[in-house]
Amino acid sequence: MIRVAILASGTGTNALKLIEAAKLLPRVSIELVIVDQMQAPLLQTLKDSESGLNLQMILQDHSLKGSDRRKEHEKRVLQALHAENIHYIFLAGYMRILSAEFVSLYRGRLINIHPSLLPKFPGLHAYEQAFAAKESHSGVTVHFVDEGVDTGAIIAQAQFPRLDSDSITDFIARGKSLEWNLYPEVLKRLDRDGKL
Ligand code: GRF
Repeated sequence: MIRVAILASGTGTNALKLIEAAKLLPRVSIELVIVDQMQAPLLQTLKDSESGLNLQMILQDHSLKGSDRRKEHEKRVLQALHAENIHYIFLAGYMRILSAEFVSLYRGRLINIHPSLLPKFPGLHAYEQAFAAKESHSGVTVHFVDEGVDTGAIIAQAQFPRLDSDSITDFIARGKSLEWNLYPEVLKRLDRDGKL
């Protein structure tokens, strides 16, 4: 079995799509979901669904300062990943930049989904950036995570048009529905090929 962990911070709609897709896959299993925010809606959704998933809330220790806080948090995330012998990590709205040490431990096995056609519009608020730039089309990207911000090798992309009548809400909704299709497709590819 290919043991997958999901790291999420927020609503977790992508995480839920991955969890749903994995149920039908013979070789891939979601062994761990780590949430780093007590207020993350995903936490409640998963608790309510009684999914039986190994769900761990790993929060930052606010008694620590700056880089100590980040190091200690990553250490506990890594301990959880090692304890479950995780092969691949899928970030799903995980709002932290991972350290170079973390990235090097999971190089080629650390995946993210980003809401633009990378290399266009890296960083935060990518849908808003693309909309403001009046792009005729935009898209979503699944990519490996490297030491940069949204600079890793691209695994898969999907495009959508911007319509003249689009509000930002319409634009984001069209993108999100592509995300919910593309991320599970990558999980299916991992199941089929045994690697990414
Ligand atoms: C998605 O738009 C994803 O592309 C980006 O963060 C957002 C997370 O949304 N990395 P959700 O928590 O999966 O709903």
